[in-house]
Amino acid sequence: MEDYCKGREKPISLSDMKQFDLKYMRDHWESQAAGYAESRKWSGVDARVLELLELEPGDNLLEIGFGACVTAEQIIRKFPKSRYWGLDLADNFIRIARNRLGGSAFLVQGNTLDLPFKPESFDCALEMDAIHHFPPKIIPEAVKEIFKILKPGAKFIIVEDWGAEPEDKRDELANEIQKLRLLKRQGLEYHPSDNEWLEMIEDAEFTVRLMEHIERHLDLNLFENIPGDKARDKLDELCSLWGNEPSTTKMTIFICEKP
Ligand SMILES: C[S@@+](CC[C@H](N)C(=O)[O-])C[C@H]1O[C@@H](n2cnc3c(N)ncnc32)[C@H](O)[C@@H]1O
Repeated sequence: MEDYCKGREKPISLSDMKQFDLKYMRDHWESQAAGYAESRKWSGVDARVLELLELEPGDNLLEIGFGACVTAEQIIRKFPKSRYWGLDLADNFIRIARNRLGGSAFLVQGNTLDLPFKPESFDCALEMDAIHHFPPKIIPEAVKEIFKILKPGAKFIIVEDWGAEPEDKRDELANEIQKLRLLKRQGLEYHPSDNEWLEMIEDAEFTVRLMEHIERHLDLNLFENIPGDKARDKLDELCSLWGNEPSTTKMTIFICEKP
């Protein structure tokens, strides 16, 4: 854990570190990788990210927590003259990506809080549903770490779920249920609200260039194994409110720029 503080101007406090067990998180993702890769499908959110990405030939893009590399495959296809770099905590995702992406990507096992790159190395960074995998007080440190490795003028695209204000009973219930999931209860995962993201992004000295919401399919089976009557009752109500309609949730996309 001391490694987290190495060379940091503002060390993370001991109480925050105690909550965050990197080995636990890594073991979690090593064990989930194969199943996650099988179920992770291309979605309208990936398509929108691809539309928003602007890369010039020779540009270096870093994706943090690329996981099943579903978006990576299309980024490489759309921008064959740019360099795609992917960093993930889990070796098993690196292996999956090596098979899927071949030699067209630079893949690195590492931790978002301690990026193994020189300052101002990248022209763009992307993270999709990856930097919420920390306790709340540590997420701003991850945003600052990403700021460091970007060149001035570079963009950072953040795509996260559960940030939007609930608009109806279905949103409210889904939001309440996702808070009962295991990593949340353990304090190892936190979904900031849109306003909390904005505050963190600005604290890290990024300028927000765009913020938008986009609907994504919400797989209610994800909530099946949450223990307790409270979760079960909420899930039953949520399922009945969606009925035969396809269930969705809102993602938030931020485009941030390093001045
Ligand atoms: C929910 S998955 C999202 C994967 C991918 N971005 C996607 O859109 O499907 C979270 C990813 O973040 C990675 N991850 C979790 N904690 C990390 C950390 N501290 N540093 C780097 N990657 C991390 C996990 O291994 C996993 O691949």
